[in-house]
Amino acid sequence: MADMQNPFNYLQFARGDRFYDRSEVRKDLRSRFLSGQTNVVLYGPRRYGKSSLVAELTDDLEKEGIPCVTIDVLKLPSISLFISAYTQKVYRKLAPIKFELRRLCEFLKSLRPKLTLGANGETGFSFDAVGAEIGSEALSEVLDLPHRLLPKGKRAVIVFDEFQEVGELLPNDQFERVMRSVIQNHDNVSYIFLGSRHHMLRRMFTDHNRPFYKSALTVLLDKPPLEDSIRFVISRFKCGGITIDNSCAAQLVARADNIPYFIQQIGFEVYRQTSDRGKRMVGEKAVVEAFENLAGLNRDQYEQLILTFSTAQRKLLVALAKERTHEFDELYRKRHELGPSSTVNSSKRKLIEDGHIEAYEGLNAVADPFFAEYLRTV
Ligand SMILES: Nc1ncnc2c1ncn2[C@@H]1O[C@H](COP(=O)(O)OP(=O)(O)O)[C@@H](O)[C@H]1O
Ligand SMILES: [Mg+2]
Repeated sequence: MADMQNPFNYLQFARGDRFYDRSEVRKDLRSRFLSGQTNVVLYGPRRYGKSSLVAELTDDLEKEGIPCVTIDVLKLPSISLFISAYTQKVYRKLAPIKFELRRLCEFLKSLRPKLTLGANGETGFSFDAVGAEIGSEALSEVLDLPHRLLPKGKRAVIVFDEFQEVGELLPNDQFERVMRSVIQNHDNVSYIFLGSRHHMLRRMFTDHNRPFYKSALTVLLDKPPLEDSIRFVISRFKCGGITIDNSCAAQLVARADNIPYFIQQIGFEVYRQTSDRGKRMVGEKAVVEAFENLAGLNRDQYEQLILTFSTAQRKLLVALAKERTHEFDELYRKRHELGPSSTVNSSKRKLIEDGHIEAYEGLNAVADPFFAEYLRTV
């Protein structure tokens, strides 16, 4: 039993039998993308499982013969990095087998791509143009590639993860404007936009002054149903040869605020402790112990983090860690010495934007339950 693999994993996207719930939204998206051109923006707080869900979805679609390309914009922090990664990925996935590279140069007139041969023998490109020279024209050629490369009658799906970050690549909404005008002619390509700075992402698609206004169906990825999470925890433990009763599993899910990432993390720790002790049944105090352990392990990270907040922001975080609230009314503000509501509002706005506070069903709380524990422990 000691050599049994831990059935929880919080470091990788959940796949296969490690993936639970989401069946409704997954089915819905799958049929939308199978039946034709459609663009979707999937937004929601960090760690709710957006990237995992879309990885499952693109697997489904690939099995149906629809090639999918996924780009994580967070890892491409400049326009030249974006352009070369996008070109490589789109070319490798979508170009027909006999495609002549010469034609790529015709498609990308402003960029003059040069062929390179990687150590693994795979062809790649490099571009002469450096960041400063890359403007709207080059970007629009690159973004048009999927449409140009796809053979007649074939369709593809392109996923942009952490899409809100494209705002950083070119000044003044330029990226959004160019992209919108290019992709609206792409009847054979569907786009999925994901992002964790979800307020920002949502605004990109619902603010009528923004280029992407109403250009995609907006879907919120919420927390999973509580019962599904509890059932998942019980079944993972069972896979690992350990029994957990319903009330312990419910306690675990509650400590994780029913957020998939934290369920995996606490599940991992409870499983580890239990199996290290050679037990086959999760003990009564195991969840609390695991939770406290993990909060302690993350201390260093939280000490770094807390230095980045203003005093007013820190006060608000400490208050919310102790007492969640729907309203920051006078009594609440008095009780926690938060000062006038204008101060609270501006701290709150910033903390929500950066994902440190989440308002779930209108109840404001610290987004990371371990950070909340850290803030409560003096
Ligand atoms: N449906 C799911 N089933 C099981 N675990 C999940 C699920 N969705 C997310 N997770 C867990 O949460 C972690 C974070 O999910 P991720 O997809 O990266 O979230 P997001 O992209 O919304 O920030 C994953 O690595 C995985 O451990
Ligand atoms: Mg993600």
